[in-house]
Amino acid sequence: MPQIRFVQPSGAAEVVDVPAGTSVMLAAIRNGVRGIEAECGGCLDCATCHVYVDEASLAALPPLGDQEEAVLAAVAAERRPTSRLGCQVIAPAGTMTLTVHVPERQL
Ligand code: FES
Repeated sequence: MPQIRFVQPSGAAEVVDVPAGTSVMLAAIRNGVRGIEAECGGCLDCATCHVYVDEASLAALPPLGDQEEAVLAAVAAERRPTSRLGCQVIAPAGTMTLTVHVPERQL
């Protein structure tokens, strides 16, 4: 079962086990992870599920889609090369641990 490791701006981290195919956003909401707002519920319309994907994890993910790229222009925190929307980042099958960093703010 894949895991998602959430790292808060303070450095505190928590790891959650998720079924393959679960988005980072849903994993955060279902497990009470702070800092992921997800106001649109995953409709690719709010940019409040912004995360910074760890460099090592980024290589295992499909590239940004055009709509995700467009919505990322509206993130509240600094946009970085590793920025992704949590609702679009899906935990792949297998035992990998996907590490994401939660930004300082979403609004
Ligand atoms: Fe709104 Fe991801 S939850 S864009």
